[in-house]
Amino acid sequence: MPTLSVRPLQPYVGAEVSGVDLREPLTAAVRDEIYAALLRYKVIFFRDQPLTREQHIALGSAFGELEAHPVEPTAGYPLILEVKADGVIKRGPDIWHTDNMYEAIPPSVSILRAITIPALGGDTAFSNAIAAYESLDADTKAKIEHLKAECVFPAKRRKDLTPERKAELAAKYPTVLFPVVRIHPDTGERTLFVCEAYSENVVGLEAQESAELLRLLFDRIKRPENQVRFAWRVNSIAMWDNRAVQHYAVTDYSEPRHLERVTAKGTKPFGPGETGPKHPLPAL
Ligand code: SIN
Repeated sequence: MPTLSVRPLQPYVGAEVSGVDLREPLTAAVRDEIYAALLRYKVIFFRDQPLTREQHIALGSAFGELEAHPVEPTAGYPLILEVKADGVIKRGPDIWHTDNMYEAIPPSVSILRAITIPALGGDTAFSNAIAAYESLDADTKAKIEHLKAECVFPAKRRKDLTPERKAELAAKYPTVLFPVVRIHPDTGERTLFVCEAYSENVVGLEAQESAELLRLLFDRIKRPENQVRFAWRVNSIAMWDNRAVQHYAVTDYSEPRHLERVTAKGTKPFGPGETGPKHPLPAL
């Protein structure tokens, strides 16, 4: 018997989930129900969940082995990424992305919780990359079916890092090739697996054709029809499936904003005609 209440927020993506206290250890049954909602709605939201860092880590660990953030792990809590802006030094503008996609095996699930939120602004937008794929015409779908694109650590854009650190990270995260059309390991759905933040070049195409194709695919992610936009409140939580959505933090605020994220390891991306393992949910 389902115990959760799930309220869809938009036709293609996003649902608000209630009926669970995420401070408590999840039973396998409730965890499976939450994961099923995540697979169906791609991003799910919870309100009024005042978790400690330890509870946040425990929650994330119910959905997979957590990874330390590759660039900025939090001191004393390496599994936590602090997403922090003091309202004066703005972070943005953001770029549509899938978390840490420059890793050879990019993450599966991310869970972000809100600690300090501006009175106005600072939403996060999420776009369904499966709906974006499905919106393409048949010729484009056929064209991209077996293409691969380069995914690059964005050293050029990271003005906050020293040249030495950039070089170190670029060496640690060399360019990886991913299928443009990824098969979701758990649902078998086709998803667009290129993102504006990290995907640079489609293998086998001339530079201009590659740029035009990527622009077309990025634009599908930006279509409002494929999106849900979440207005944070303190103690809100968003849990998203990086294999199915991309997201964009809207930088339109002038007060402090502080959130924290944990991120579960993923499985090696594979494309049409290939196979790979399902996401391993830990035994609870
Ligand atoms: C993130 O990219 O994980 C952070 C999103 C946000 O700041 O809303």
